[in-house]
Amino acid sequence: MKGFISGLPKVELHLHLEGTLEPELMFALAQRNNVTLSYSSIESLKAAYQFHDLQAFLNLYYQGALVLRTEQDFYDLTYAYLERCKQEHIVHTEVFFDPQIHTRAGVSFDTVASGIIRALRDGESNLGISSGLIMCFLRDLPEDDAIETLKQAIAYKDDIIAVGLDSSEQGNPPEKFERVYAMARNTGFKTVAHAGEEGPADYIWGAIEALKVDRIDHGVRCLDDPKLVAYLVEKQIPLTVCPLSNVKLRVFNDISEHNIVELFKQGVQVTINSDDPAYFGGYLNDNYLAVAQAFDLSKQDVALLSDNAIEASFLSEEKKQLLQQKLAHYLDIQFRPII
Ligand code: ADE
Ligand code: ZN
Repeated sequence: MKGFISGLPKVELHLHLEGTLEPELMFALAQRNNVTLSYSSIESLKAAYQFHDLQAFLNLYYQGALVLRTEQDFYDLTYAYLERCKQEHIVHTEVFFDPQIHTRAGVSFDTVASGIIRALRDGESNLGISSGLIMCFLRDLPEDDAIETLKQAIAYKDDIIAVGLDSSEQGNPPEKFERVYAMARNTGFKTVAHAGEEGPADYIWGAIEALKVDRIDHGVRCLDDPKLVAYLVEKQIPLTVCPLSNVKLRVFNDISEHNIVELFKQGVQVTINSDDPAYFGGYLNDNYLAVAQAFDLSKQDVALLSDNAIEASFLSEEKKQLLQQKLAHYLDIQFRPII
């Protein structure tokens, strides 16, 4: 199974670029930019990666992201992730960034966006990995800040394909961002939102009804509401599920208790993703493997999960078909009888 997953052409739809900041790069950038970290060594930083909930993780994640100061820093971060994609046979990725972390620390929106976009373009031409960029609003900040951020994104409309919503979920319901999402949709952005990670199933309804999202990020709490599950199945609204993240942040106690396979069997369009792999101890292949092993999935089921991600992506129908052909070709070789 490990070899099968490793070579399988895959699409990633839920990945925070700031969450790919490996401790080694964090220390290198801190030195390059004269930023003082609260940890004296890579080992002591890694030892702190034990989280009892989402907020405990976010506190470290926001602190770590402060080493990113220049256009080249954002380029290096993004390009390192794309090189990892190449190793993992990720053929297309739709990545999040959190501009407000950086602008509130005095780094301009243009510095952040231009470094990321330059790396995504190079990733496409040098590594053959296609991508889309999704700008997230921090939901613990006021909606007016999100509106300011959206205005800055308009200059990058050719590269930023969608807006999203992340950070502390509880107490920050989707309805708080109804106006900025309407503005984003009217400007032509696609929309996604984190909902039902730690927050209740009602927040998933809120993301669907108030924000009119195209996809739900996480969404695992939907099982608390059978009507919601039926709706997700009927409308085929994709969920970008992050299994190892959910275990690290104690949404589930153990991978064997995760509900992704239950949702899959009920017909929800679930996809597998890595969220913040530098913090959660696993990139995309590790997430696929953890689920496949915990639930004894067949190779066909694993391939269907990869196909779900192609289907749920924001690629054009033509590009989806090309990726589906790539997947079919891989499966042909894998399942060809040996004579
Ligand atoms: N920002 C980065 N990772 C996140 C997650 N898992 N949930 C909410 N906000 C995030
Ligand atoms: Zn996330």
